[in-house]
Amino acid sequence: MASYKEQTPNSIHHVLGISGSLRKASFNTAALRAAQELTPEGMTIEIFDLAPIPLYNEDVREKGFPSAVQDFRNRIKAADGLLIVTPEYNYSVPGVLKNAIDWASRPPDQPFDGKPIAIMGASPSFLGTARAQYHLRQFFIYLNGLILNRPEIMIANAPSKFDGEGQLTDQKTRELIRDLLNQLKLQIEQNQLVHGSKP
Ligand SMILES: Cc1cc2nc3c(=O)[nH]c(=O)nc-3n(C[C@H](O)[C@H](O)[C@H](O)COP(=O)(O)O)c2cc1C
Repeated sequence: MASYKEQTPNSIHHVLGISGSLRKASFNTAALRAAQELTPEGMTIEIFDLAPIPLYNEDVREKGFPSAVQDFRNRIKAADGLLIVTPEYNYSVPGVLKNAIDWASRPPDQPFDGKPIAIMGASPSFLGTARAQYHLRQFFIYLNGLILNRPEIMIANAPSKFDGEGQLTDQKTRELIRDLLNQLKLQIEQNQLVHGSKP
């Protein structure tokens, strides 16, 4: 049997990055941009903008997915893994992100099934989106996403960890993100060993 390394010699892992905030100066989108700088060798992160996703409406879905939703579903399907960065709104996941996940999750062939998923979040508060992240984890029980357990990255007191240009300046957080992406890479590679290619 070929060794693990022999089976995946030059493969590049394509990760789709999703931020649950639409605002320009978002700490969460800034954390996602930082992750793009911190990828391990052999990984790329492409950011998907949720702004064009309409509000969920079953009447609309029955006539076919809107183009932005179809594009989102296709990109999730094509990605080797996901990195979701969530703000916390009223102790939970913002509607923008929940709405996008709801759209993408509709049949047929919901694209989260068996997909490696890393999550993190940033907030000015001292819990750093912990409550929102546990709700996000709960979504992917039903959807059978392969959520990484560790490391948990809750970027608390976010204004002290980014500079005025949205650069993540906190070295400890940068190290944690590196670690998270390495774990995501491992999960993707384990998944590919089991399934042969993308699930
Ligand atoms: C509707 C709303 C509800 C919020 N609820 C929470 C909350 O429950 N916990 C929290 O830590 N921050 C809460 N915040 C503050 C957000 O964490 C803060 O606005 C953060 O900067 C949003 O993320 P972003 O910078 O990526 O846009 C809330 C903000 C809004 C607009």
